[in-house]
Amino acid sequence: MKNDIIEGAKGIIGDIISGVRKGNSKDASQKGLLPNIADTMHTGEDASQDPFELLKSQHQEVDSLFNEFDHTGKGAARGRKQIIEEIYQKLTCHAKMEEIIFYPQAKKADEDLTLEATEEHGMVKILLGQVRTMTPTDKTLIAKMKVLKEMVQHHVKEEENEMFEKMRAKFSKAQLETLGVQMKEEFDRLLERMQKGAKASKAKARAGASAGAAKRGASSGASGRSASARKPATKTQAKAPAKAAAKTSSAKSRSSAASMQR
Ligand SMILES: [Fe+2]
Repeated sequence: MKNDIIEGAKGIIGDIISGVRKGNSKDASQKGLLPNIADTMHTGEDASQDPFELLKSQHQEVDSLFNEFDHTGKGAARGRKQIIEEIYQKLTCHAKMEEIIFYPQAKKADEDLTLEATEEHGMVKILLGQVRTMTPTDKTLIAKMKVLKEMVQHHVKEEENEMFEKMRAKFSKAQLETLGVQMKEEFDRLLERMQKGAKASKAKARAGASAGAAKRGASSGASGRSASARKPATKTQAKAPAKAAAKTSSAKSRSSAASMQR
């Protein structure tokens, strides 16, 4: 009987783990299951991951990208478009991972702070969507990027200085480490999916562009041929219809002159 209960519990925990790994982590975390069961979930060799160190390293990476953007110009290794695309991908996946895995737990430590952070994500996403579609020479791009950078820095400061402390006070070290593993897995999954999608749409755009070029080439070749078909091949051929017309007209004149003489 005791063994049956243990086996049953193992089955339930297994289902939750597989749900989390299949991307159902939102449901699991919303049910409040993650931090409690988390202690027993990851006992393998990669079981330890400090969630705060993970977030801090991602914050620093994005900050470096903003700094790289600030120094774009002559001699820069990468163009503005490329840097914005990387900021977009990293920041979008970072924010999504926080919203799915981290914030539902942070809410238990400080609900108001978490709600504020979620709203800030919303504002960051709006600006990110705008700068991503702008041309690198657009006059307002630099201004928008400056505002975006400041918004992200303010958001990061609140997370690192306030939210992290409240989370440390609320959860055990083991719970936080397991949460960190789940966050890392989710982020990697989101980023891989986003990069695959970006690659596929680039390939699609390239295929569309070359198909369009081939179509334009074929139609200009065809119109060239039809023009040459309409064009007489030689000067003799060009003169022939004119000669025939002149012949007909002079025959007509002779005949009308003869009829007048009659
Ligand atoms: Fe955040």
